[in-house]
Amino acid sequence: MIKYALLFLFALTFCSLQAQVFKLTPKQEADINALIEKMTLDEKIGQLNLFTSDWDVTGPTLRAGYRDDVKAGKVGAIFNAHTAKYNRDLQRVAVEETRLGIPLLFGYDVIHGYRTIFPIPLAEASSWDTVMVQEAARIAARESSAAGLHWTFAPMVDVARDPRWGRVMEGSGEDVNLGSAMARARVRGFQGTDLADEATILACAKHFAAYGAAKAGRDYHTVDISDRVLRETYLPPFKAAMDAGAGTFMTSFNEVDGMPASGSRYLLTDILRKEWGYDGFVVTDYTSINEMVKHGVVANERQAAKLSIEAGVDMDMQGATFYDHMSALVTTGKVELKVVDQAVKRILRAKAALGLFEDPYRYSDEKRQKRYVLAPEHRTAAREAAGKSMVLLRNDKNILPLTTDKKVALVGPLAESQYDMIGAWHADGQGKEAISPLTGLKTVFPSLQHVSAADFKLDGTAKYLDNARIDAAVDAAKLADVIIACVGEKADMSGEAASRTMLELPGRQLELLRKLKATGKPLIVIVFTGRPLVLGEVAGLSDAMLLAWWPGTEAGNAIADVLTGEVNPSARLPMTFPRSLGQVPIHYDMKNTGRPMDADNKYSSKYLDGKNTPLYAFGYGLGYSKITYASPKVSKTTFSENENITFSISLQNNGDYKQRETVQFYYRDPIALRTRPVLQLLTWRQVDLAPGQVASVSITVKADDLTYLGPDGKTPTLESGRIELFAGPASDKLQKVEVNFNKTSN
Ligand code: NOJ
Repeated sequence: MIKYALLFLFALTFCSLQAQVFKLTPKQEADINALIEKMTLDEKIGQLNLFTSDWDVTGPTLRAGYRDDVKAGKVGAIFNAHTAKYNRDLQRVAVEETRLGIPLLFGYDVIHGYRTIFPIPLAEASSWDTVMVQEAARIAARESSAAGLHWTFAPMVDVARDPRWGRVMEGSGEDVNLGSAMARARVRGFQGTDLADEATILACAKHFAAYGAAKAGRDYHTVDISDRVLRETYLPPFKAAMDAGAGTFMTSFNEVDGMPASGSRYLLTDILRKEWGYDGFVVTDYTSINEMVKHGVVANERQAAKLSIEAGVDMDMQGATFYDHMSALVTTGKVELKVVDQAVKRILRAKAALGLFEDPYRYSDEKRQKRYVLAPEHRTAAREAAGKSMVLLRNDKNILPLTTDKKVALVGPLAESQYDMIGAWHADGQGKEAISPLTGLKTVFPSLQHVSAADFKLDGTAKYLDNARIDAAVDAAKLADVIIACVGEKADMSGEAASRTMLELPGRQLELLRKLKATGKPLIVIVFTGRPLVLGEVAGLSDAMLLAWWPGTEAGNAIADVLTGEVNPSARLPMTFPRSLGQVPIHYDMKNTGRPMDADNKYSSKYLDGKNTPLYAFGYGLGYSKITYASPKVSKTTFSENENITFSISLQNNGDYKQRETVQFYYRDPIALRTRPVLQLLTWRQVDLAPGQVASVSITVKADDLTYLGPDGKTPTLESGRIELFAGPASDKLQKVEVNFNKTSN
């Protein structure tokens, strides 16, 4: 009896641990088991291989060898192939010409849109608007699924704190909670509530894990972090993505504790499978199994394949290590067949969840493709998203918004770019379909004068602006009422393999701005970038500065909306903007240290030649209206485990514009068993306030929201004692209330 009770308890615990991302019927599960029974070893290994297609001027192509492999059942998934017709034809080969007819899975990097390109993910995160972000992912899924895709390699949920790292543009910035919220929103947007729905696609939480901690912001570089930092900072957005149902995870290129992620049993099995109970499948990043040879943890690719599958990898992206070596590894007894079977099962379950066994062609639908890809309503949504993602960094004397009768001189190397507007990782996005700042602004400022800079290279080293163009821009500026200068990075300056050692505006852009300023005309600077830049001097030169990021297909229209006040900017920074590169890494949730900054004490933690504070803090951003905050209040000053505190703050719109305000709530645990950050984001609320309107915004705070990982590095912990609660419009403009936590249990 006791034995049965224990078994029952075990089953209960196990079930609650098992995070079921694919909800299959018993019949589907039985069919998969029956299918695996029928499969030869080669057919099983085939399911573990993911290969890329190429792209020709006329569309996607598959190398001859790969096509033969598809026919032979040696490939389970293809990426980068898209468009309904092409994928349908290729699917036909898998379904009709292979022995078992197992459908292919088609993946692609649909990161911020398929064809209708939304703002880059870092920009979307600046909206702090999870509803909007979810909707953007839903639209991306609707377009890409119609074009034959089943699976996106997104969301990228790597916490990123070093702006030198080009891939900061793909994520949600430096904060764990904001990043987790964005991860959930994106997974829900891509996957919807039913993966078998023809308009939803599988999500992939990447890059597992700690890729964002690459030393010195250099892509693919070593990561060396403590387990505490891994678990407190880098893992939570992955857990959030999993809890939201993310069907797949992608390994990262980097090592963690001396082991590359694609060979890390600790990450892929101990944490992901055992601690979290994940039942989706794990794909590697591009050739990252092979790269373990160069990392120096295995002598050859055969060993790498063994290490990887035994660590918990299910699918090999492009490396062909399973393809080349798994058969020999299994037949010589070096890898157990059950390990392969388990990986096959996870992949087949994903295919079943997508409904591919019922109808392998349901996602390749030319009619839907025509109807939805770049649909007008998607462009409208992209325009709204772009408006909500632009951060107003400066607005001296309320120079913005501008009336449309202004004589504008539009200058700067990005003013007429279409391609750069859609940013890196733009999937099938086409520069020619994007609205440039010039096109967007011309429609609202009829007397706009533009000085072309289209032929300038923007790579920071080559000629970036020449004297003649700078002079022409200055001449035009002298005749104008106001100057709008479009400066920043080109799209290929951030993203993968796009790390930088300097964060100033590249090339001669600063020189251009200095000369424009010298004209005495009001200078509005629009900054396009995929990362935080060092903007101190730019800010000093500008009367207004708008951070547009890379806004997507509707860039120019959204910029016009914001500059004219049609849209009142409401975005807030998801990453700290440093004063200088020397401050990097800089993020708001730093630790206090034993010698916190003290201007009067040389032996305190500071620089000799610069401040500790950033140029623009996490959470910072302006709007056109003026919002004033009253003092925050708590419903009680003492609480224990089962009690909630209501923490509230009221605010008023004292300006002339309707304003969306993001009220931010933070906390600090000043004395704990392990050091804690000086500030941590708890949550936020967005309110729309009409001129004159007052609102009271409140949140519920409970002990669970305030825990940290205790001395064992794993157990959520909170001791009795003082907790500081903060509320306000940005991480550096907060008001504090203190409460006391009384722990009643042990
Ligand atoms: C390498 C990148 O790191 C990853 O994010 C991407 O999904 C794959 N390439 C496929 O394009």
